[in-house]
Amino acid sequence: MTAIDPSTPILLFDSGVGGLSVLAALRLVLPEAPVIYAADNAGLPYGGKSEAEIAARVAGLLGRMTERLRPRLVCIACNTASTIALAAVREVLEVPIVGTVPAIKPAAALTVTGTIGLLGTEATIRQAYVDRLEAEFAGGKRLIRFAAPALVAAAEAKLRGGPVDPAAFAGAVAGLRGAPGGGAVDTVVLACTHFPLLLPELAEAFGAELGSVRFVDGAEGIARRIAHLTQGQPMQRERGDAALFTAGGADVDALSPALARYGLESQSVF
Ligand code: DGL
Repeated sequence: MTAIDPSTPILLFDSGVGGLSVLAALRLVLPEAPVIYAADNAGLPYGGKSEAEIAARVAGLLGRMTERLRPRLVCIACNTASTIALAAVREVLEVPIVGTVPAIKPAAALTVTGTIGLLGTEATIRQAYVDRLEAEFAGGKRLIRFAAPALVAAAEAKLRGGPVDPAAFAGAVAGLRGAPGGGAVDTVVLACTHFPLLLPELAEAFGAELGSVRFVDGAEGIARRIAHLTQGQPMQRERGDAALFTAGGADVDALSPALARYGLESQSVF
């Protein structure tokens, strides 16, 4: 095996800014890791697309990106893309791939009432992958799923520094609490990487400061998995980390300050 160049990047991929919640966790465990953050904003949001469209799009894009950028590892920092396209991507890429799995297992360990809420995109919540996680880890518990695409838009708006529609949060609360048995939800799985970017707003909307709910997401687990798979590899950033977008424009320009806060110093169109 040839020695790996220390500046070889880890590629983090999402439809938009959601993967930044994973990047934040990754920075804590691997502060020296060179990262390229790629957002398929031309395809955002993924949540309203069909399985076939998401699988083809993600596999095609990651194939081209991997060929051009030669990452040491690819992380699909998106629940929608992972729950649908992980197998298809694994077929076309030779580099190690880490996906994002809805954190049902840790939520099942945390819940006291036995009632778990899950917020994700429309596409994620209908996946057989989620059914399997529920059967394996949340047997005997109640899992209430709610699609909250408005929260994806809210996270994008927040990171652009723009106003965020409070109706998005009220809608998520109503969607879980209003479901049969929803009053007992004490643990909420944030099954979309955009949602941890809205933790303060979600906590306020759910009254979490009163201790009524806890939120769990997969970011820390993903970061640990990446650290494990790259253990022993030299890592050194040669220049500031970069962000790539599949479409340019004013919305991307507005993200610059937020990207800089995550250590992404430059941005360009792929
Ligand atoms: N961040 C993505 C996820 O984790 C989804 C956002 C979208 O709908 O594109 O599911």
